[in-house]
Amino acid sequence: MPKSTTIVTGGAGFIGSHLVDALLAKGHAVVVLDDLSTGKREQVPTGARLIEIDLADAETPKIVSELSAGLVFHLAAQKSVRTSVDNPALDARINIQGLLNLMEGLRASANKPQVVFTSTGGAIYGDGVAIPTPEDALAKPISPYGVAKLSSEHYLDYYQQIHGIQYAAMRLANVYGPRQDPKGEAGVVAIFSNRALDNKALTINGAGTQTRDYVFVGDVVDALVRAAEKKAQGAFNVGTSIETDVNTLAATVVAIAKSSSQLEHIAAKPGEQQRSALDISKAKKVLGFSPSTDLAAGVRQTVEWFRESLSTVSR
Ligand SMILES: NC(=O)c1ccc[n+]([C@@H]2O[C@H](COP(=O)([O-])OP(=O)(O)OC[C@H]3O[C@@H](n4cnc5c(N)ncnc54)[C@H](O)[C@@H]3O)[C@@H](O)[C@H]2O)c1
Repeated sequence: MPKSTTIVTGGAGFIGSHLVDALLAKGHAVVVLDDLSTGKREQVPTGARLIEIDLADAETPKIVSELSAGLVFHLAAQKSVRTSVDNPALDARINIQGLLNLMEGLRASANKPQVVFTSTGGAIYGDGVAIPTPEDALAKPISPYGVAKLSSEHYLDYYQQIHGIQYAAMRLANVYGPRQDPKGEAGVVAIFSNRALDNKALTINGAGTQTRDYVFVGDVVDALVRAAEKKAQGAFNVGTSIETDVNTLAATVVAIAKSSSQLEHIAAKPGEQQRSALDISKAKKVLGFSPSTDLAAGVRQTVEWFRESLSTVSR
């Protein structure tokens, strides 16, 4: 059982709160750093300590160094690609300045903790790469969000080389599951589940043949914990390697929710990526990672969670 503090930035958010659950179950003493901008106080599991701070603020390095953490999971982020396009400076403030404040705090800390960072496998690779995409494919992001994630990986590499802080950059595919915000732009399983339970139409851009790699949040947490426990180094794709098109996803949600929702096709989004799936051979080999929740099982858990929470949470 680890005796030192484990920091989880973004621990009040969707993925972070599930990660904190898993760490507490393993006996970690967890401190969550979160400004509650998209995360929720009630999502921070009992047993974890919440420090409400904006990582981009100047006092962050001091707070971080005083925690003398033995392990750090860095999930706090501005995660909207659209917001990053509308306001690249805002994105950089949170996703770059926030990271640098955290790393400067760790550099000044008594320990040199391992850092597990949530990067992206969806927004980091260029067009025309092999599908499923391996980690050594050309990284050529086309959004400020993707640029910030790639830059973060380079900064982490710098801190490793020069200051001896080891890191793993986990390039996540399209994560879904209970607690995902159904009002965001990206959580299509959450959006579809929510609407299907209301028997409202599910809106699909274009023909709906565009594919994504949907990975269940429990499997993502498993990969993050494995990376920490194995003190893994470098970049790892985390997904399923399975391509699912939007039409199939929508039909799966409708069937599982026993919904009468119709699928409504609207104009295709110009420039939308047509195919995405991650090659997870490296995570399988190095981390022993193997996603265990298939799409039907994951959608079932997600729909059931929304069914239960919708009776208490306003939509
Ligand atoms: N959800 C996905 O499909 C997906 C895919 C790839 C990568 N990721 C990455 O995984 C991480 C977690 O994503 P999520 O889906 O759980 O998002 P989320 O929005 O639910 O969680 C992010 C958390 O960070 C907090 N936060 C934001 N800005 C902050 C700041 N300046 N200071 C302190 N806390 C701040 C938010 O309040 C929230 O609790 C992010 O780094 C995201 O980029 C997510």
